[in-house]
Amino acid sequence: MSVRPVYLYNHSLLRQKTNQIDTMTDEIKQFIADMFETMNNASGIGLAANQVGDNRSIIVVDVSDTEEDEVVFPPTVFINPIIEKYSDDIIDYEEGCLSVPKLRDKVFRPDAVRVKYLDKDMNEQIIDAEGLLARVLQHEIDHLNGIYFFDRLSAVRKTLAQGKLRKIMRGDIIPDYEYLLSDIQ
Ligand code: NI
Repeated sequence: MSVRPVYLYNHSLLRQKTNQIDTMTDEIKQFIADMFETMNNASGIGLAANQVGDNRSIIVVDVSDTEEDEVVFPPTVFINPIIEKYSDDIIDYEEGCLSVPKLRDKVFRPDAVRVKYLDKDMNEQIIDAEGLLARVLQHEIDHLNGIYFFDRLSAVRKTLAQGKLRKIMRGDIIPDYEYLLSDIQ
């Protein structure tokens, strides 16, 4: 296993839609193991494949260390995840992102979602998630569609974030884990 560099805002891969996969291979198993290692190394609770430079529809989630949820949800890989249903309840919650170091802001999203996905054995699964797990799933599935969390901020909050985003692109704000700067200048 190895830690991979996290691609930072606004690398072109992070603005592209990822591709679905239909077969599990040893190479993909290795890649998923690397994604878990990269996420843990950066103390993240979620990571999308395009954040480590891969255009496949894979996310890993680990909310097992958080005390928010009563039932511990184990570290899990979600392949080709799709949100099938959103709750009517919308709540705000502060989000950050390994690709956007040092920027955090409150994002409004549905409190619960139903997600259809393939597990590590390529079996179809459906999960009804709420709370932090639902939050992370929505954030990471957004990544697979080329969307950052700050895209969902109000116009005013987005404008306030611009300065920090420019600094990340220039390399003036860097994380304390392995990273790759944007290929867009
Ligand atoms: Ni993120």
